[in-house]
Amino acid sequence: MGVFLSGSFWGGGYSVRSSFDLKAKTVKVESGQQIAQPAALSEARYAETFGLLVRVSREYEPMKQALIRTISRYCPESFSLLDIGAGRGIFIGDVLSELFRRPDLYGAYESNPDHFQALQAKSPELARQQSVWREAFTSETVLKPEWDVVLMSHSLYWMQPMGLHVQAALAGLKPGGVLVIFLQPPAGFYKLQLDFMDLMVCRDNGLNNHASSQELMAELKALNIDATEELLPGYLDFSDIWDDDRALLDMGCFILGGELREVPEWIQKKMVHHIQANTLQLDRFKLFNQPTSMVIVQKS
Ligand SMILES: C[S@@+](CC[C@H](N)C(=O)[O-])C[C@H]1O[C@@H](n2cnc3c(N)ncnc32)[C@H](O)[C@@H]1O
Repeated sequence: MGVFLSGSFWGGGYSVRSSFDLKAKTVKVESGQQIAQPAALSEARYAETFGLLVRVSREYEPMKQALIRTISRYCPESFSLLDIGAGRGIFIGDVLSELFRRPDLYGAYESNPDHFQALQAKSPELARQQSVWREAFTSETVLKPEWDVVLMSHSLYWMQPMGLHVQAALAGLKPGGVLVIFLQPPAGFYKLQLDFMDLMVCRDNGLNNHASSQELMAELKALNIDATEELLPGYLDFSDIWDDDRALLDMGCFILGGELREVPEWIQKKMVHHIQANTLQLDRFKLFNQPTSMVIVQKS
């Protein structure tokens, strides 16, 4: 007998119960049918679906402007910045080039070897001095209080429980320094993940943890960490792929982290329908609501 977990989800106005058998790697769906658990996206398919996301995403500009505004407010002069889960350094690179100031010291933790390599190559243009670590930031990581800004941009999904990782990150701030977190709010992808929770592929490295600012704020409150949350606008522009079911299904693959091309056709159609039903149709514009939360904690 495998471990048997069950959960329920609501879709299209009706309630559906399904269950997930970890050992047999099958998922029992609403018809009572047992289907194979979707495979995790391969690296190539992840890159392909991520490429599609980048093409349609309009979330980046509000995030960039919000970080520029925050650095200008808290650090009007010189500053040091630690970037936890920096990726390839593209986001911070774009922010700094529009801020027209570079930090005296740029530090980063990046655990993905490919991302780290690109980040390391880019880091000389980010600051006069850099310290980039090819290692995972954990809740046990001990930081010296030497940073004016600590940034966790869309990286907390991999770090559970989020509150303890935030606590470890806060230890790196100088008094008056600021921690800036970008994370999904309970909207957009989060809602779809909830509707298809039982089909979600949770990878060992934590990718696709169903996490949002809603859970984060509750964890911070429990730890007595005083944080403020600001909702930034953001959307995915599906206007050009609206009639392309394969592309919309690929968005679903990205959202769940699983290969939906191999699941029964009725589940594929259901995913495409859910994506379309969560999209605002304004004449020729098809806009999927995907805001970003900016959570700020200042060290006293
Ligand atoms: C979605 S990307 C975001 C990249 C960048 N911060 C941005 O906003 O564009 C998340 C990054 O966090 C990295 N990451 C995940 N868990 C990590 C950990 N525990 N320590 C360091 N990096 C981590 C991943 O490898 C990935 O590059």
